[in-house]
Amino acid sequence: MISQIAGLGVCFCFFLVLPSSTGTSLNAKGKTFTLHQTAVPRARPWFAAKSVKDTHLKYQLRVPIEIENALSQEIPPNQTSVSARPGTRTDQMYVVNVQVGGQNMTLDLDTGSSDLWVVSSLLPSTQKATRPASRLYDPNGKTARRLDGHSFMISYGDQSYAKGQVYLDRVAVGDLVVPNQAVEVATSMATKFVVETGHDGLFGFAASAKNSVSPKSQLTWFDNIRPTLAQPVFTCSLKRHAVGSFDFGYIDKAKYRGDIVWSNVRGHRGYWDFNPTGFAIGDGEVHQATFEAIADTGSSLWYLPRTIADAYWKQVPGSSYSTAQGAFVFPCQSKLPEMTVIVSGQPVRVPGINMNYQTVSAGTCMGGINRDFGMPFSIFGDAFLKGLFVVHEVPLKGQSRIGFAAQARSD
Ligand SMILES: *[C@@H]1O[C@H](CO)[C@@H](O)[C@H](O)[C@H]1NC(C)=O
Ligand SMILES: *[C@@H]1O[C@H](CO)[C@@H](O)[C@H](O)[C@H]1NC(C)=O
Repeated sequence: MISQIAGLGVCFCFFLVLPSSTGTSLNAKGKTFTLHQTAVPRARPWFAAKSVKDTHLKYQLRVPIEIENALSQEIPPNQTSVSARPGTRTDQMYVVNVQVGGQNMTLDLDTGSSDLWVVSSLLPSTQKATRPASRLYDPNGKTARRLDGHSFMISYGDQSYAKGQVYLDRVAVGDLVVPNQAVEVATSMATKFVVETGHDGLFGFAASAKNSVSPKSQLTWFDNIRPTLAQPVFTCSLKRHAVGSFDFGYIDKAKYRGDIVWSNVRGHRGYWDFNPTGFAIGDGEVHQATFEAIADTGSSLWYLPRTIADAYWKQVPGSSYSTAQGAFVFPCQSKLPEMTVIVSGQPVRVPGINMNYQTVSAGTCMGGINRDFGMPFSIFGDAFLKGLFVVHEVPLKGQSRIGFAAQARSD
């Protein structure tokens, strides 16, 4: 993928001119002095063509075609990092800025689904009214073209849905650009998305096989960019009530402590699944329990098998399951124990503070751990992921893996 930069004097260093008693002697007006070259290494190679172009533009000169050509061959970036912002005050979702066509949109990055869909100017006016026009994707942009005969219809576990047309457009995340990404353009959507104005659509990072475009399903943005990345990975460091990051193409060693605990991903149903084999509450002993877990940034809570969820809240005096909330409630001042799950024989520890999801009334809080009743698997949402450094790896050939480590800083 890396193209040669032919014919240009690309310099990987620069030279300092220093007087010295050795080296080339020059004689000027009877005095002798010496030029001595010292190479100073640069952190990154300096790309001359860009500044040559800038100089031409500054003096309003036509940029030589060979400079334009050289620029078009500039080595494309193979990694980037973007902010993961809580989309609401209670960390209900984590959003990223994404350039879709010429527009800057705020998308809910969701590892539990595989569609990139956006609110659009094609929605009925009643559904458009909650956002300014600048936040509605306009498919008449210069870089957009219709994917004829294709449509999408996606429905989520909470009965919400979106449906509409499909376009190909330029989609950039930080420095990484997919020129022809399938962008699913909503022409109708559930009321939930009309009122949930913290984001302008979903950005799916589960397997492309789960993509809901028909007749031909489309690749996710990650699958499109993956062959160009330095490493076929993306990582997340989600933070409680604070800005974290999503990194693409590399594993930032400064963002975690200790070793990464890896688990193979079966990709069952297209999800980031893994199989914990046990759990421990606070300093308690490890209990055996094997169940299917799915890591999902697009879910707020941490759903666990009922016996495990109940065992956790039994350690919190005054807590109870509230059918009204559909969740556990507890006195807000309670000290919440850490929860540990065993993955690949290793402990993955989740700080107790994560289990305080939100205040529901004076002195009463709602728990981050919930029962996974009615689900064919246990969804490990943000209440689990916050505080962890999570690596999602899809090699070009071979086994996908998910990895967990403690974040370097707990903030
Ligand atoms: C996109 O919008 C967000 C806020 O909506 C802003 O913080 C960010 O700087 C914008 N990015 C660009 C490239 O315009
Ligand atoms: C990623 O890009 C950097 C900077 O251009 C380059 O040095 C490195 O070799 C690239 N890595 C891969 C695996 O392409």
